[in-house]
Amino acid sequence: MRHEPDSRPGYPATRPRRLRRDDATRRLVRENRLSVDDLIQPLFVIEGHDRSEPVPSMPGVERLTIDRLQTEAAHLAALGIPAIALFPVTPADAKSADAAEAWNPDGLAQRAVRAVKDRVPDIAVITDVALDPFTIHGQDGLLDADGYVANDITLDALASQALSHAGAGADIVAPSDMMDGRVGAIRQALESNGHTETRILAYAAKYASAFYGPFRDAVGSAGNLGGGDKRTYQMDPGNGGEALHEVELDLSEGADMVMIKPGMPYLDVIRRVRERFDVPTFAYQVSGEYAMLNAAFDNGWLNREACVMEALLGFKRAGANAILTYFARDVAGWLAER
Ligand code: PBG
Repeated sequence: MRHEPDSRPGYPATRPRRLRRDDATRRLVRENRLSVDDLIQPLFVIEGHDRSEPVPSMPGVERLTIDRLQTEAAHLAALGIPAIALFPVTPADAKSADAAEAWNPDGLAQRAVRAVKDRVPDIAVITDVALDPFTIHGQDGLLDADGYVANDITLDALASQALSHAGAGADIVAPSDMMDGRVGAIRQALESNGHTETRILAYAAKYASAFYGPFRDAVGSAGNLGGGDKRTYQMDPGNGGEALHEVELDLSEGADMVMIKPGMPYLDVIRRVRERFDVPTFAYQVSGEYAMLNAAFDNGWLNREACVMEALLGFKRAGANAILTYFARDVAGWLAER
């Protein structure tokens, strides 16, 4: 005898729980998963030898000298992590109004790239293209006479910086400055100097976020910025549609991959960008997200591994192809144990 689906209240024909009753079935029907291939580890680099410094607002994160960076890169590569993103800590006496240290061929960033590519050639090295670690005022661009971050004169500086990174062997340059037209300026400079294979990962939708605080401590730009903010160039947190416009522009100017930043408060933007353009879409779980989660872990309020994995899976579900996360090393270890 056949039961009509709705004839027996309390005995539904469709029972979604069937697919959740055991681990084998849950694994079979799981739509998204996190893999070591998705992970990019950001790393902070300092001058000196065989030394590391903890970053107080980012428990577990250390700034590394170049020799230690090489060892760390080798370790990350052995774990299967495909890429690292380098952030140099510029000594105060190398900062200037014109940010010239940004394109010094022997600057810390450039030496770090060469050292990593020399020791661990197969790990992809991503460099940050922006002037904030190099300016005395901590802004990502150069200032005009009124103290406004001037767009067009900054483009030349960014192109020089990107060229010097490519020359040092960077695989991917990542403009994070949010000046208009910078992807086009960088692409043109790369093409006309023979760096046709250098990829551009554009921080296409980068918001003027309060979640970057610990990063600015880590690279030592917070003091330079003082009470200043970046709202004349980074995006307003209220805007979603504008992110699509930014992505469209960066793609038309020659970006190979685009990034949304920060991550967790902007998952809707990741989803919209991925659906609209279906190009490699990366997400950045930023320093403040890392600090926030660690504060809860260190208080015993949340489970570290479970919450990190769930947060990163959320990025995948939203549509991210890869994730910059300060947890990358830990996650690669956990994935290897499973
Ligand atoms: C520099 C840059 C910032 C971050 C990445 N590149 C800081 C900023 O824009 O002030 C933030 C990363 C993080 O918070 O983890 N342009």
